[in-house]
Amino acid sequence: MTVEIRKATANDVEAVLALWQRATGPTALVDRADDIERLIRTPTSALLLADDNGELVGSVVAGWDGWRGNLYRVGVAPERRSHGLGTRLVRAAEAALAALGCPRVTALVHLELGDAAPFWNKVGYAHDTEVGRFVRNL
Ligand SMILES: CC(C)(COP(=O)(O)OP(=O)(O)OC[C@H]1O[C@@H](n2cnc3c(N)ncnc32)[C@H](O)[C@@H]1OP(=O)(O)O)[C@@H](O)C(=O)NCCC(=O)NCCS
Repeated sequence: MTVEIRKATANDVEAVLALWQRATGPTALVDRADDIERLIRTPTSALLLADDNGELVGSVVAGWDGWRGNLYRVGVAPERRSHGLGTRLVRAAEAALAALGCPRVTALVHLELGDAAPFWNKVGYAHDTEVGRFVRNL
């Protein structure tokens, strides 16, 4: 299996939407093509994809706001799990953030997904039980 981890381009948008439908967890907002296009155009953020000869089999979003890094949308196609792709995606996202000077990374984790917490623990992330998330849609 030769899977490349690469940055998304505008040509990937429809395939990313399809991948997210089957590989990532629940979303608070409906995924839209123009939101993904904006993400791809944002220079300090990265949408990284696991690409197996043209087939998208995994993704991660790495966001950098100049202060801290955030990881979203880590997901691997169900039939491709447990072969190290999730770990490779996280490591690539960390490298992209570190190259921008990011000192600390937060992963947005859906605790109700059975695979999520063991995975994040395994790739070196501690569950911070003292800090919660307060959110508001704009
Ligand atoms: C979580 C997810 C991204 C992991 O991707 P993956 O490619 O299977 O991950 P890896 O193969 O790199 O696994 C790394 C480690 O995570 C742990 N892990 C992965 N899936 C696990 C599971 N179902 N149960 C327990 N541990 C698991 C294992 O310790 C594994 O190490 P090992 O293979 O040496 O045992 C994938 O299962 C997925 O897409 N799940 C659905 C979406 C999701 O939960 N995303 C997390 C965002 S909140």
